[in-house]
Amino acid sequence: MKNYIPDNNRYDKMEYRRIGRSGLLLPEISFGLWQHFGPNDDYDNCRAMITHAFDCGVSHFDIANNYSLGESERIFGKILHSDLTSYRDELVISTKAGHRMWPGPYGEWGSRKYLLSSLDASLKRLGLEYVDIFYSHRPDMDTPLEETMGALSSAVKAGKALYVGISKYPPEMARRAASILKEMGTPCLIHQARYSMFNRDPEEGLFDVTKEEGMGVIAFQAMAQGLLTNKYLKGVPADSRVAKGEGTLKVEQITPSALSKVGKLNDLAISRGQSLAQMAIAWDLRDERVSSVLIGASSVAQMDDSLSALKNKHFSQEELDLIDDILKD
Ligand SMILES: NC(=O)c1ccc[n+]([C@@H]2O[C@H](COP(=O)([O-])OP(=O)(O)OC[C@H]3O[C@@H](n4cnc5c(N)ncnc54)[C@H](OP(=O)(O)O)[C@@H]3O)[C@@H](O)[C@H]2O)c1
Repeated sequence: MKNYIPDNNRYDKMEYRRIGRSGLLLPEISFGLWQHFGPNDDYDNCRAMITHAFDCGVSHFDIANNYSLGESERIFGKILHSDLTSYRDELVISTKAGHRMWPGPYGEWGSRKYLLSSLDASLKRLGLEYVDIFYSHRPDMDTPLEETMGALSSAVKAGKALYVGISKYPPEMARRAASILKEMGTPCLIHQARYSMFNRDPEEGLFDVTKEEGMGVIAFQAMAQGLLTNKYLKGVPADSRVAKGEGTLKVEQITPSALSKVGKLNDLAISRGQSLAQMAIAWDLRDERVSSVLIGASSVAQMDDSLSALKNKHFSQEELDLIDDILKD
């Protein structure tokens, strides 16, 4: 791929949802760089995935400081500057701090010291003056919430982030975080939460809180890292995350009981004219409180399969009941 010229019809291929009570819209499917953007990954494949996503109307790219210990931000920054500099205003780029990034007591969790120095380092790696969304990546029960939210608010006031978000916060802590941020004049835009047919925790209170507080929700791991696709139905393929020991999906989680559910869900997906990956993404999007689904992919072909989820987002009540029954087993 030499000079990249984006597809002029990119915005006809995607629908966009408003994020809570904000002015910002996100694509129904966003792209995350947790895996496959590391030092051992093929740069041309990374570049092809980013530019292809943009061609398909995916305007949001999600990263974090600790993804491949900064390498994902570096790779994304390189692609951004080689192919997408003229399109910066068409992109929503997020990064996060919270998980372990450097040694010692200031390299993780939720202190002001860690969050703000981490954001500076992220901006350097990305080659950007600001990110669109800066997240507290995980709750920190030992740091006053006022301090963590204060750091997020400072990032916005310093012009280093346009919006802020939180990730994996339990419902009542998310409510308090939203209220503290509101008082600081920096509304909490979004909550990044794990949500899939195999993990329905956000239905137990979080979705109510985000709706009441006017926050959007961006759901991650809708495909359960590949388990909720047809990928593992016939064993563990050599090119998979599990075989390569990447991510956190372990071979022990691919149990006969999980595979039996996956098999039944796969049959239902086929009857809907979809792949299971597509049904898993569409299932997340059936809930209007989900603003966007954040997908990972290892190739353009895989990404294309996932993006085709948008061709059939409708579920009949019978299909939803059948899914509930399969998951109950
Ligand atoms: N806030 C947080 O704490 C947090 C935590 C985790 C993730 N995230 C975000 O969510 C994003 C997505 O997470 P994720 O990649 O772990 O979860 P995911 O989207 O559920 O899984 C992606 C993996 O599933 C497989 N896959 C994808 N599309 C497929 C298809 N159409 N058919 C068959 N298999 C398919 C691929 O596995 P192979 O690699 O095996 O090919 C791919 O790497 C991350 O990049 C990150 O931005 C956030």
